[in-house]
Amino acid sequence: MKFKTIEWRGDCVRLLDQRALPRRACYIVCKDASSVAEAIQKMAIRGAPAIGVAAAMGVALAAKRSRTLRPALFRQEMERVCERMRQTRPTAVNLFWALDRMKKVWDQRLNFDVEEMKERLEAEAIRIFEEDREVNQKIGENGKVLIHEGDGVLTHCNAGGLATAGYGTALGVIYAAWTEGKRFRVFVDETRPLLQGSRLTAWELSREGIPTTILTDNMAGWLMSKREVTLVLVGADRIARNGDTANKIGTYGLAVLSKWHGIPFYVAAPTSTLDLSLVSGKGIPVEEREPEEVTRFAGVRVAPKACRAINPAFDITPHSLIHGIITEKGIIRRPFGKRLKRMKEE
Ligand code: MRU
Repeated sequence: MKFKTIEWRGDCVRLLDQRALPRRACYIVCKDASSVAEAIQKMAIRGAPAIGVAAAMGVALAAKRSRTLRPALFRQEMERVCERMRQTRPTAVNLFWALDRMKKVWDQRLNFDVEEMKERLEAEAIRIFEEDREVNQKIGENGKVLIHEGDGVLTHCNAGGLATAGYGTALGVIYAAWTEGKRFRVFVDETRPLLQGSRLTAWELSREGIPTTILTDNMAGWLMSKREVTLVLVGADRIARNGDTANKIGTYGLAVLSKWHGIPFYVAAPTSTLDLSLVSGKGIPVEEREPEEVTRFAGVRVAPKACRAINPAFDITPHSLIHGIITEKGIIRRPFGKRLKRMKEE
């Protein structure tokens, strides 16, 4: 990608502040874990895989800054940092997955040399980052067969380079097909209320020279009825054992519309987004955000003061509406249950 969403710099983490895009590409330098946690919570960095990588780097930073040489105290400090990270955002399971990986590093040893443990934690955070880049690449390679010359591909929110350490999941598939020489159009849902589609997805696609058309979320059905959309590709924040998928609010509506119009609807996600502990999407916690994100637009109030607003940030698409899930290990088709489990554990 022509930009770096997140970067480990040895003594700090540099993040592209996505709240300022597309007006300005400015960076935040986080020197400690609490500033990384704040960046995740306030959505300077967002997107399931990216927040997992950021949280892991936050823990590695905390380790580096720790002054204790006593393993028990060090462990307590790290546990506290993990707890703070866990409180940042509830839906994307990649956050918890990455923190569990970091925790495993100190949990595997009862006694350890603290200085050596710091190095191990730094190495693990960098590994999580590198692996995400490789996984993105594989998702792209596995999914590109789904895109055909002349297609109209609709995507929602941002599942691209800005949401990952690499070139993205749903957008990774688009980049891989484009690089192979296929020519098609991409439709980008604006994605109210925070506009991750028009602000972020359109920004990165247009920088890669891919023809991009933005629509407001309520236009998708009309475009589908006119056969302008021929494929829907979205990312995921958490996928339950049966294939039910949490993704940015509005995804469920797109899946219903796709079914009605007979348009294939695919989810692209790394296996780290699979949460096998949940039987179905009913168990996925859905983040509820400030109502002001809905009642205001570009900082200006656009709704009467007396009215209430709701703001669930995600919705759950039932597995029955999903044609397939594109992972780094291949495309899984319905019935998902056993296949997802096998793939995760492979
Ligand atoms: O609230 P956000 O911007 O973190 O939501 C992001 C999404 O819903 C993405 O589609 C999802 O995380 C997949 S990113 C590869």
